[in-house]
Amino acid sequence: MPSLFSPLQLGTLQLPNRIWMAPLTRCRAEEGHLPGPLMAQYYGQRAGAGLIVAEATMVLEGNSSFWHEPGIYNQAQIEGWRLTTEAVHRAGGHIVLQLWHGGRACHPLLNAGRQPVAPSPIAISGETLHTPEGKQAYVLPRELRDEELPAIVEGFRLAARAAMAAGFDGVEIHGANGYLLDAFLRDGSNRRSGPYGGPIEQRARLLLEVLEAVATETPLMGLRLSPLNGYNAMGDSDPIGLITWLAQRLNQLPVAYLHLMRGDFLGQQQGDVLSPVREHYKGVLVANMGYTAEEAAAAIASGAVDAVAFGSAFLANPDLPERFRRGAALNNPDPASFYGPGPVGYTDYPSLEPQP
Ligand code: PHB
Repeated sequence: MPSLFSPLQLGTLQLPNRIWMAPLTRCRAEEGHLPGPLMAQYYGQRAGAGLIVAEATMVLEGNSSFWHEPGIYNQAQIEGWRLTTEAVHRAGGHIVLQLWHGGRACHPLLNAGRQPVAPSPIAISGETLHTPEGKQAYVLPRELRDEELPAIVEGFRLAARAAMAAGFDGVEIHGANGYLLDAFLRDGSNRRSGPYGGPIEQRARLLLEVLEAVATETPLMGLRLSPLNGYNAMGDSDPIGLITWLAQRLNQLPVAYLHLMRGDFLGQQQGDVLSPVREHYKGVLVANMGYTAEEAAAAIASGAVDAVAFGSAFLANPDLPERFRRGAALNNPDPASFYGPGPVGYTDYPSLEPQP
């Protein structure tokens, strides 16, 4: 029976354990969405993960949904990210980059006045985001025209190429949590007619085009989905039908792993999305959201999933796998410093053993 510490083959990578680091928006990039040495130190400290999924990163300029989030659309960013990939590889780890387009979660105040874009003109309601001018409500997005979508697909493709140039082991496509690709997938946010709206196979078209394009640039591509998550005012009339269809369809593409959020940040939408994926999808299945070490070990031992990604626990415990191995106490994450700025609550969480 596999344990948390059994190796896992992922494409050509041999991962040393099944304790992954989930992508975490930390807002520590420098001006110009530039990853710097502080980020390299943070990721290097966490190289003991089976795989690090580095935080959501902008594929196209002008689509920022978090202040100080990183990008991967210019040469300076490639060079900035190289500090991170070198730090992780030097420490013996593996790292992929999560690629995203924020869609309707972008805000004019973060994007030189530019109105966000989305499948349909429906704003995120009831939530706010942090901007240079304080907390702001989300704004009404502009509906993308079908003719604009190839440029978005191309943005993802070029970002994957840039990620490989920066030394990443692969990329993860962000198809979750209400950002652009997820907003197309789910019928609460996609009310389009035409080839990119309507039935599941049409709402999934943009995601599938992105996956096909990105696969030409990288040897290792994963995908993150969150069919039940209500965060960012998301919903779907049939989340289980959606994930079951995708689990089957993804077998026709080189998607090495599916990274599945099992629940809802808001605790409202219920259901079992892991079982249909396990039944139909042939790649590596990674689960995420609120697992303890014990629960993760049981899920892996039973064969329900292949690996588990930890978010806030990894944020607060750079040596999380070693702590699990020893049964050691965990540091508690401090939400006040999740979104920056600076090293406090970022690179200063202690390890059991002193780190370089
Ligand atoms: C967040 O920081 O709140 C956040 C970022 C990206 C996600 C989900 C949540 O995919």
